[in-house]
Amino acid sequence: MLGSFSYHNATKLYFGADALQLAGEELQKYGKRVQLIYGGGSIKRNGIYDSVVSLLRENGKEIIEDSGVMPNPTADKLREGAKLARENGVDLLLAVGGGSCCDYAKAVSVSAYCNDDPWEKYFIRFEEPDCPIIPVGCVLTMAGTGSEMNAGSVITNHEQKLKIGHVFGSEVMPKFSVLNPEFTYSLPQYQMVAGIYDIFNHICEQYFSGEDDNTSDYLAEGLMKSLIHSSRIALKNPTDYEARSNIMWTATWALNTLISRGKTTDWMVHMLGQAVGAYTDATHGMTLAAVSLPYYRLILPCGVRKFRRFAENVWNVQTDGMSDEQAGAAGLEAMEAWMRELGLVMKLSDLGADASMLDGITEATIMLEGGYKKLTKEDVRTVLQNSL
Ligand code: NZQ
Ligand code: ZN
Repeated sequence: MLGSFSYHNATKLYFGADALQLAGEELQKYGKRVQLIYGGGSIKRNGIYDSVVSLLRENGKEIIEDSGVMPNPTADKLREGAKLARENGVDLLLAVGGGSCCDYAKAVSVSAYCNDDPWEKYFIRFEEPDCPIIPVGCVLTMAGTGSEMNAGSVITNHEQKLKIGHVFGSEVMPKFSVLNPEFTYSLPQYQMVAGIYDIFNHICEQYFSGEDDNTSDYLAEGLMKSLIHSSRIALKNPTDYEARSNIMWTATWALNTLISRGKTTDWMVHMLGQAVGAYTDATHGMTLAAVSLPYYRLILPCGVRKFRRFAENVWNVQTDGMSDEQAGAAGLEAMEAWMRELGLVMKLSDLGADASMLDGITEATIMLEGGYKKLTKEDVRTVLQNSL
């Protein structure tokens, strides 16, 4: 049974090889001053920067540059970006990059006119914005987080060793996002597969919960099958437009709130991954890959029917004669084989984590209760230990 819910998605999408030009019409809706947000320079090397700057100029915009947004954007960078936006009175924050730039833009949007410290207000006290919010647009260059069509923003504080996400209201979602699959061609393979696993895990986080017959779970299975299929093609041929476009579209639908409607969700792999990220600053998708199998193997006995369904419907495992637990385990083996095929990082030690960090990472892991097993801190430690 689906529980009661409301559904509204505030982001307008422009998808396809000509998406950036088509999105030119959006720019007319906002004032002259655009804070152009980007990362470490990949957009200058692959030409996306030039295309975006030309479009902004054609539309009479004044550009305020905000570069150097790091993967896993920090609280310090957020404070700088908020100051820049406020001092320049910007009318639009345009993020050109992956989830880090888009998350950062959203955080800046609610921080520019906030009289409080944004880290403390939004990421420690989880308060809602009570100040003017600057509109955000996004030109996505990496498929993974779903940030282009959701209200999430994840910020890291290295001093406090915390990486925390805040899911804001729909007023913080990008007003528009440009999804051109060709913009992802230049991603290094490491980032491409990390993004693919991030997408897959977003779906798992919303799938491994609840017992009922739920349309959202059928949608989740379809998205997983499409992703697995396209990932194998993109791995062999990164410029296969069909595969890259399917991956990009799957990423958006995996985390724009659709497949969580009417059901509970888990998100403990992400809580573990974020805590690992706070200690190692590792690539987000890889932190998830490293902890996933130990986590799912731990919770398998508590959700055997869904794990059997996962094996049968997602991985086409022939489960005749198997108990639910055996079938579920076979599904996880199939998932593991695919993860190894992609070349994902399967151990925390390969991300720079070691035994001396386990207490701190355990402590930094936020505990959620929507999944099949209510974890104790001891369970968290066991998962981390088994992931080393
Ligand atoms: O710095 P640049 O030059 O942009 O390079 C980036 C970065 O080094 C590079 N890259 C991106 N597009 C490229 C490219 N390199 C070449 N060609 C391109 N087309 O890839 C690297 C990683 O980029 P990043 O934006 O950090 O990756 P991702 O999209 O995975 O974002 C990760 C951040 O999003 C958060 C994560 O925690 C992390 O902080 N998340 C946000 C979520 C949300 N808003 O809902 C949910 C996720 O679960 C996640 O937590
Ligand atoms: Zn994620």
